[in-house]
Amino acid sequence: MCGIVGVVSGKDVSQKLFSGLLNLEYRGYDSVGMCVIKDKNFKIKKDVGKIEQVNNKVNFLSLHGNIGIAHCRWSTHGGVTKNNAHPHTGSRNKISIVHNGIIENYSEIKGELQKKKHVFSSETDTEVIAHLIESYLDIYTFEKAVREALKKIEGSYALGILCADEPEKLIGARNESPLIIGVGNNENFISSDIPSILTQTNKIVYLEDKEMAVLTKDNVMVFDLEGKEKKKKIHIINWNAEAAQKSGYKHFMLKEIYEQPRAIADTLNERVQNGSIVFGKEFGFSNNYLSKVNRIVIIGCGTSWHAGLVGKFMLEELAKIPTEVEYASEFRYRHPLLDKSTLIIAISQSGETADTIAALKEAKKHGVKTLAICNVMGSSITRISDGVIYTRAGPEIGVASTKAFTTQLAVLYLLTILFSKLRKTLNKTQIKDMIESIRKIPLQLQSVLDEYDEILKCAELYHNKQNSLYLGRGVNFPIALEGALKLKEVSYMHAEGYPAAEMKHGPIALIDKSMPVVFIAPHDVYTYKKVLGNIEEVKARGGIIIAIATEGDKEIPQKSKHTIFIPKTLYTLSSILSVVPLQLLAYHIADKLGRDVDKPRNLAKSVVVE
Ligand code: G6P
Repeated sequence: MCGIVGVVSGKDVSQKLFSGLLNLEYRGYDSVGMCVIKDKNFKIKKDVGKIEQVNNKVNFLSLHGNIGIAHCRWSTHGGVTKNNAHPHTGSRNKISIVHNGIIENYSEIKGELQKKKHVFSSETDTEVIAHLIESYLDIYTFEKAVREALKKIEGSYALGILCADEPEKLIGARNESPLIIGVGNNENFISSDIPSILTQTNKIVYLEDKEMAVLTKDNVMVFDLEGKEKKKKIHIINWNAEAAQKSGYKHFMLKEIYEQPRAIADTLNERVQNGSIVFGKEFGFSNNYLSKVNRIVIIGCGTSWHAGLVGKFMLEELAKIPTEVEYASEFRYRHPLLDKSTLIIAISQSGETADTIAALKEAKKHGVKTLAICNVMGSSITRISDGVIYTRAGPEIGVASTKAFTTQLAVLYLLTILFSKLRKTLNKTQIKDMIESIRKIPLQLQSVLDEYDEILKCAELYHNKQNSLYLGRGVNFPIALEGALKLKEVSYMHAEGYPAAEMKHGPIALIDKSMPVVFIAPHDVYTYKKVLGNIEEVKARGGIIIAIATEGDKEIPQKSKHTIFIPKTLYTLSSILSVVPLQLLAYHIADKLGRDVDKPRNLAKSVVVE
């Protein structure tokens, strides 16, 4: 997951590239770089760090040229180093390139080029493309050289490409990674997303897979890989000043849904060190204390309570620690049985929810230790608790919680790793596998976010339905609850979340030809086959099946009307991926119904009354 932006103009482009980059930072920020052409030479500045930090060091605005490309990186191939930062050039400095995606056959191509004396200066898959195009420049024009290279590479890419000898031309290309074109006045743009260039132009051309665009300052042409021109529609994107504040997204909820890869990456940042989990000084608990905890009680409200249910599954399944989850509002009036070996975990986005505060105070009366998982620094809940783990979702403004939820899940997963290690319930290899898997989540989430066509289709077809059912099992049962809650909150459509197998004890009576039933059914060794059976039961009664399934699943698409795929990951982590299509589904249905998505009726972001 990376962000790319490119501009060809009648004027200096560095400021425009820079502001585009700032809007793309959510896509990656471990290193950043920019390249312009001046007097048929590339001028490149790049380094490791966040955009502002690198800019303070290198001053991107000191680059001058009328054409350029820029990139913010989320590393996949090759570590976080200056050499691995984009843009990358070929050996002869004729081609400069920025890339978002993964080239699967890069080592094979690299080997061939090395035999032809190409010398590589990075460990990236991207650099191979620059060398490959350059190798074709001896026989072909710039455009044909790019086309030939694209035919040879396998994998995903959104590319911005410059040729030093053709300083009036910017080439963009895409396959399975997002890239759009902005049509301006005496200038044209490419970018990973629309909001990043909305302050420059609202005329957008959507590039499809295996299409290549050739941009000059006053012309945009799109071709297929055989060089045949394709006529493209220009879409006018309507936006206003408020939208600009939302980085061009129509609503904060949508912006926050799309921020999740960045939010999770931030939440993981610096907490995984040499195979250990480190929560920092505000965590406040010693390993000695944690090893003695033999029971956990999680309290929260709304979406935070759902996060607690996922946490229970993780903690019991992997760390083998008995865990209960309570609504904060019930817990405090129930005279809970607590002893010193119980740890209370309060989950709250805002840190100000009155019921959760009251429940925490009740717990403290029993002399038990309390840990807050919270998004807002210095909030009441963080001040009352003995220790805090901050989710680093950033401000969440949309009333329906999205990025706070997935970052809460990420924290609970890290906590599970910590407990599993202390309690020796998992071996080193299993822990390594868990850490590697969560590291992949931001990138996998981005791919879920980039594929939303089927979700839009479902929103279009079913936004006028009155009821719907959300069904899941195991770690995805709380996701069914959360999916249903999201839909209720923002669209006001009635939805119920249920454990899939419980359906036959009641909700099955509701199913008829007009009932959408959303199955959260990623592949797992526990209940997958049983869920297939549940899908059949709904199908037999005419229900409209929308399924969330793991990529490569052949059975579910045959049984469902719509299948939305999520990448393969560990079962416990599938919850972070499977909730995202449900957030998008709720959003798009509500938007189609014209609801006030960010401020749904009767709700509040932070409920400060009991
Ligand atoms: C309100 C919000 C929900 C949120 C719940 C708990 O009901 O509308 O989105 O999940 O409060 O809030 P907290 O800040 O404690 O997570």
